Amino acid sequence: MTEQDILSVLKNITNPQNHKDIVESGIVDRVAITQNGVEVYLKINHAVKPLQNSFRKAIRQVIQNQLNPEINVETYVEEDTPQPVEKTVPLKDVKNIIAVSSGKGGVGKSTVTANLAAALAKQGYNVGLIDADVFGPSIPKMFGVEDEHPGVRQEGEKSWIVPVEKYGVKILSMGFFVDPESPVIWRGPMASNMLNQIINDGDWGALDYLLFDLPPGTSDIHLTVVQNITLKGAIIVSTPQQVAIADVVKGINMFRNDKINIPILGIVENMAWFTPAELPNNKYYIFGKEGNKAVSEKYGIDIIAQVPLVQSICESGDNGRPAVLDGNSIQAQYFESLAQNVIKKCK
Ligand SMILES: Nc1ncnc2c1ncn2[C@@H]1O[C@H](COP(=O)(O)OP(=O)(O)OP(=O)(O)O)[C@@H](O)[C@H]1O
Ligand SMILES: [Mg+2]
Repeated sequence: MTEQDILSVLKNITNPQNHKDIVESGIVDRVAITQNGVEVYLKINHAVKPLQNSFRKAIRQVIQNQLNPEINVETYVEEDTPQPVEKTVPLKDVKNIIAVSSGKGGVGKSTVTANLAAALAKQGYNVGLIDADVFGPSIPKMFGVEDEHPGVRQEGEKSWIVPVEKYGVKILSMGFFVDPESPVIWRGPMASNMLNQIINDGDWGALDYLLFDLPPGTSDIHLTVVQNITLKGAIIVSTPQQVAIADVVKGINMFRNDKINIPILGIVENMAWFTPAELPNNKYYIFGKEGNKAVSEKYGIDIIAQVPLVQSICESGDNGRPAVLDGNSIQAQYFESLAQNVIKKCK
């Protein structure tokens, strides 16, 4: 292993402030190989200061994962004035924190979260959205902000990460911080650390609703969210298809687990039927009809929305403008009624 090898694996870590890697951005000053292992010297300016711990952890992980699992890695930061860690209650000015999850991937969790956030903001609520899906962050694309960067606000010694704002929704996505093309093997562990920073150092201000778009299934990310903050409840998104519903039950069991104990606000049945644009009154139950009804009854969880499969919902996601913003369209009404039900459940 040479210093050059180390520098080339460090190029897998991205500086979210300019989307360049940390070597090219000058965050890595130099590296050295010593008898004790690898030493990495960092130059941290105030713009990337909130991310410094994530960088240090990521650096250790990429070197160990990609070069030598046994090697000791030390990181040193110039001008590293140790700060007393203030213990603040995370997200204390947020009234309702809601996790949106699904057992299976691709059932429309991000679409539902994006539209719910936009619907709540449209009604005048202060809304935040955390895209915690490190394996497939899609919120930036759905809001058309994939090229934007979160800002930094300095308050004395403390640096706050300023969310990107669009359609009245304050957004922070793992996609802003983690290069989607880097290997999953170290993205995973780095993700929980990064998510904690988004939660603790995000400049959210006072919010009525903060939504989390979680990755599918269960993961470290779920644990980070459920253990560190007080959730008002969870929403489970599913299609009516039987294979999706089997996973809904796993999701219910996770949230209702003794140690976690988070209320489930409801199930959103997405792709509940298909309606072609030219035959707006026709409903085709291509994934089965009311597939979630039995689960809803068995576990006493309301179905708080049924959203049809409509071409314009898919297109609006790709175009960076949630469908609910399109005035009086039929698809807008489904998400508006979801928002009403969520507001009721949070009272
Ligand atoms: N009701 C709908 N009508 C039409 N297309 C939809 C609908 N819901 C979701 N889609 C489309 O289906 C695809 C998957 O949706 P989405 O990305 O929201 O799912 P997800 O559950 O977040 O997926 P992942 O598990 O990958 O995060 C997207 O292309 C989206 O535009
Ligand atoms: Mg998603």
